[in-house]
This record gives sequence, structure tokens and C-alpha cells, in this order.
Amino acid sequence: MSTTIADAIRNDHSILRKMLQEIKKERDAMSPGLDEAFMRLRALSDIHMKSEEDLFYTVLKERSSSRAEALEALEEHHILRILEQEMVKLDKNDEIWKAKFGLYAEISNHHFDEEEEKLFQEVNQEISQEFQEELGQLFEQRKKLAKIPDLTAV
Ligand SMILES: [Fe+2]
Ligand SMILES: [Fe+2]
Repeated sequence: MSTTIADAIRNDHSILRKMLQEIKKERDAMSPGLDEAFMRLRALSDIHMKSEEDLFYTVLKERSSSRAEALEALEEHHILRILEQEMVKLDKNDEIWKAKFGLYAEISNHHFDEEEEKLFQEVNQEISQEFQEELGQLFEQRKKLAKIPDLTAV
């Protein structure tokens, strides 16, 4: 059995959760590695959200049982992007950057939990194993093509 779309998403989430935790520590210690760590987080978050929107939410939005949840999750992507755009403009020593990052991490973790707890179930019930695996492959391919910096180092 190969990687399904849920496996691929869960794998990204575990990397993103670690990155968020790491950046929080770096933020509190005012570490010089903070800029690079945040850049890497944004690169993965960007391809992750775009791939979910194209390969996961397009499927869930079409089904009445999951449409409302999917639309709410897409609004969370929207909020996360706004926070990212605002953070990019601020100095990382600014206490407002720190506050925004705290909120960004909270929303992200909540969003990952909901995707894993509710939406994976929907996908499992609604689409065939074969199609879930096809979507999983496409999801992984996109990440390769996006040439995200070494994620295994996290
Ligand atoms: Fe998402
Ligand atoms: Fe996700």
C-alpha cells in the first residue's frame, strides 16, 4: 500500500509542528537562526497549503457532507497567509512579530488537528483507496518539484 493523501499531509504536519516549536524556542532566545527557520517554515507551509487546496479540498468541497468543514479550513489557510504576510514586514525583535507568531502557531496546530481528526475520515469514507493513493503521489511530487530545503534535517 503506498502513501495516501492523508499520509502525505500527516507527514508534512509532523514536520511543520516541529518547525513551529523550534521557532518558538528561537524566538524566545532571540536566536540568529530565526530568520532562516522562519523562511523554511514559510516555504513548506506555502506548498503544503497550495497542494491541499488543489488535491484535498477540491475533493472535499464537492461533497455535501464535508463542504462546510472544507470551507472553514480554507478560511483558516486565508488567515494563516495574512499573518505570514504581516510577519514578513515586521522585524523579528518586534514584540508584535512575537505575538503574531504565537497566534500563527496556535491556529496552525488547531488546523492540523482538525484536518487529521475530521477531514481524513471524510476522505476515507468518500473516495477509493486507489484514488487516495493517486492524490498522495501527486502531493509528494509537488513537494519535490518545489525544491523545498532539506526537510529531513528538521
Ligand atoms: Fe490545511
Ligand atoms: Fe494541512
